[in-house]
Amino acid sequence: MAKRQPHILVLNGPNLNLLGTREPAVYGTTTLADIEALCRATAKTLGVAVEVRQSNHEGQLIDWIHAARGKAHAIVINAGALTHTSVALMDALTGVTLPVVEVHLSNIFKRESFRHHSYVALAARGSICGFGPHGYVLALEAAARLATEA
Ligand code: DQA
Repeated sequence: MAKRQPHILVLNGPNLNLLGTREPAVYGTTTLADIEALCRATAKTLGVAVEVRQSNHEGQLIDWIHAARGKAHAIVINAGALTHTSVALMDALTGVTLPVVEVHLSNIFKRESFRHHSYVALAARGSICGFGPHGYVLALEAAARLATEA
């Protein structure tokens, strides 16, 4: 019998809908739609199913994380600024016991000190930052491997 295709949920947090025009010197000119297309192309190559979502609202992201239980096999998340502030998001990610891969476009460790701490990292198997949109490709590769192992 054919094995069910692993399903990966890609979540994007606050302000990432503005990519393309938001601080291009930091985040480049790639739009969120471009990143979504990149995720779809990468998922196809990896043989996994992907769902890409974005919200500016912490509670919405938490609801999507809860809903991933029993459906997704791994989560890739760029939580935007919630990365550095949200214990609730960290608890949600920890609570669903799915493998989590954290991703950031910018290298958060080369930026302001308040970006050096990540609550998401405490719930993640690993983190990727500083590679721009290609970070999503790397994160999906890691998540696909974790999803297959799970
Ligand atoms: C970000 C880094 C965060 O510090 C920032 O608040 C973002 C984007 C990144 O992808 O580099 O919104 O997550």
